[in-house]
Amino acid sequence: MLSYKHGYHAGNEADVLKHICLIQAYKSIKRHHKSITYIDTHSGSGIYKFDSDYMSKNKEYIRGITKLENYKFENQSINYYLKVLRNINNSKKLLFYPGSPLIMNHLTDNLDKLLFYELHNNEFNLLRKNLSKNINAKICNEDGFVFLDKINANRKTLALIDPSYEIKDDFNKVLNTLAILNAKFENLTAIIWYPVLNIEKNDLFIENVRKIGSNRITRIELPLKQYDEEVGMKGSGIILFDGSPYLINLMRDCVRELYLLLKDGYCNIRPKIQKL
Ligand SMILES: C[S@@+](CC[C@H](N)C(=O)[O-])C[C@H]1O[C@@H](n2cnc3c(N)ncnc32)[C@H](O)[C@@H]1O
Repeated sequence: MLSYKHGYHAGNEADVLKHICLIQAYKSIKRHHKSITYIDTHSGSGIYKFDSDYMSKNKEYIRGITKLENYKFENQSINYYLKVLRNINNSKKLLFYPGSPLIMNHLTDNLDKLLFYELHNNEFNLLRKNLSKNINAKICNEDGFVFLDKINANRKTLALIDPSYEIKDDFNKVLNTLAILNAKFENLTAIIWYPVLNIEKNDLFIENVRKIGSNRITRIELPLKQYDEEVGMKGSGIILFDGSPYLINLMRDCVRELYLLLKDGYCNIRPKIQKL
């Protein structure tokens, strides 16, 4: 039984990092590929209204998108992300936060194919409704980790793997998936989001990623609080599989800027962009 609802967290600092990386990954791939397949293994419902019960409960977006809405500086990736959110909202003031499916529905063109997985029935039904106009999108009410069987090795593929980690086994599934991607796929870029919960668990996860022994993996980690023993998320990261040097450089600049804008009080842990 799944209880996670992304509406409680939408627009928070983790969504900001993940969606900026997703947008830039797509843009950088489209510089070289006319047509790609996008796969979202854990899609959510796609639209999160700021005045909904979920969003109003914890107001996590105040720690994320709200801190960026009046951004006046020059980082291209942040400015482009804000432009995309405003275009999707059709308004300068954001009325809802768009999830990854809406962002990709907006960015992709008729030559791209989109494949979405969402296991939760309610979220799946909402997503189907929210994407009903997109004829290039296929939406499956299935476990997203089966996506490996659906990859067409001849087409450039971008995958977002964004589990809720409400099941501890998600960390192992992510590690297994990465090992398979590394062993079998040459034509795929993947963005795998992970939460930083505490230093020991995080070090262990990163060590396990390192043990896969791939030279195609980059860690992009944005700490926002001290990694102490308090319960809750201390930051988040992305395991970027086969990202281009261009994308990695963009993310390096962007994460430094996000760290200054989003960090929560005193934090002496620095952002990390490193090959694992
Ligand atoms: C973190 S949210 C996704 C957020 C979305 N990717 C975005 O950026 O807007 C994770 C979603 O995965 C769904 N989910 C959980 N386990 C799943 C599984 N095995 N396969 C597909 N979806 C799953 C949850 O119901 C939830 O909606």
